Amino acid sequence: MNENKKYVELIWYQKYDKLELGEKLPIEKPNLPFQVVETVNKPRLKDLEEGLFDVSKYYPENEYPSNYPKDWKNLLIWGDNKLIMSSLIKQGWAGKINLIYIDPPFFTGADFTVRTKLDGEEIEKEPSIIEERAYKDTWSGGIASYLKYMYERLVLMRDLLAENGSIYVHLDWHVGHYVKVMMDEIFGYENFRNEIVWCYKSSAPPKRDFQRNHDIILRYSKSREYIYNTQYDLYSESTIRRFDRIDEKGRRYKIVTKRDEQFIVYMKDKGTPSDDVWYYQIIVGGSSESVDYDTQKPEALLKRIILASSNPGDIVADFFCGSGTTLAVAEKLGRRWIGSDLSKFAIQVTRKRLLDIHNSKDLTEEEK
Ligand SMILES: C[S@@+](CC[C@H](N)C(=O)[O-])C[C@H]1O[C@@H](n2cnc3c(N)ncnc32)[C@H](O)[C@@H]1O
Repeated sequence: MNENKKYVELIWYQKYDKLELGEKLPIEKPNLPFQVVETVNKPRLKDLEEGLFDVSKYYPENEYPSNYPKDWKNLLIWGDNKLIMSSLIKQGWAGKINLIYIDPPFFTGADFTVRTKLDGEEIEKEPSIIEERAYKDTWSGGIASYLKYMYERLVLMRDLLAENGSIYVHLDWHVGHYVKVMMDEIFGYENFRNEIVWCYKSSAPPKRDFQRNHDIILRYSKSREYIYNTQYDLYSESTIRRFDRIDEKGRRYKIVTKRDEQFIVYMKDKGTPSDDVWYYQIIVGGSSESVDYDTQKPEALLKRIILASSNPGDIVADFFCGSGTTLAVAEKLGRRWIGSDLSKFAIQVTRKRLLDIHNSKDLTEEEK
């Protein structure tokens, strides 16, 4: 039992079925051989030598990251992430991952049904037997079974995170409030860092409610010594216009008058430090980065997360990788990565996306 009188805990149906209230929940940790799909990229050093990416801008002083082993192979693993993560722990990966981003499915009745295009035609892929089974495990008891499913996985993620690591959990109004309380329990209330609000525009407003146009991303650190690189928002056109003069070095500035005295105020190069409200447009069929995967997230969103909470050469993981957005962005930013998904289709889309990465949109061409 937790002795801290200020402790708050979320309890769901059958959480403590065979245990005393507050007792540590046992998490099974089987060790299975992986179904590693493929290691889809050449060693990063080779890419640098061949100048395939303009990654120099992300490597401080254009130096090869000292923590990026030359023989490193990224991992793309097909299967249930609970088994994958517990096997990773058993195989010595505990405490090794610097950043985890997850975007778990939420019950929509179609979590494992994917719409995609084949030869330009829209098709719907029905769930496989494994996916149907996972769907039942996650949802047969409604939100209570979902919370159990998330709890077990979040505990494993905490064990995989490095001491300087961070986790970002992408959710929305359905369960965001429950998962936050659960994460306080698993990661510690004191390690909560941000509730990021990702806003976007969508169509078809409901008649009797405000349009729901944002998701939330919960950010927790493993400890107080976490990686954080400040990110900046570019100035708006109107702010730039207010800095209406340019000096001989090309720097923008404005003249401010205070108590009859005039001061020069320069516009900062980088913009303003980003806050916790982000705006990136959702990926729709026609977006240049679309890989025709229903729940695909924008690369710009992942770029900000990866730049803020990891350094070049660090290990970034996404255990619900879907179309592989996190892995593709990690790759472009010179991070090492581990990805997994239960759906074979998702793994195929990710694999193709990573193999084609040289032809994909550059991260600087953001659609904001
Ligand atoms: C919302 S999508 C992720 C989309 C992704 N962020 C992107 O940008 O494409 C959630 C993914 O989680 C996968 N998934 C669901 N349960 C899983 C499990 N137990 N293990 C591994 N993957 C799982 C689904 O197959 C789906 O691809």
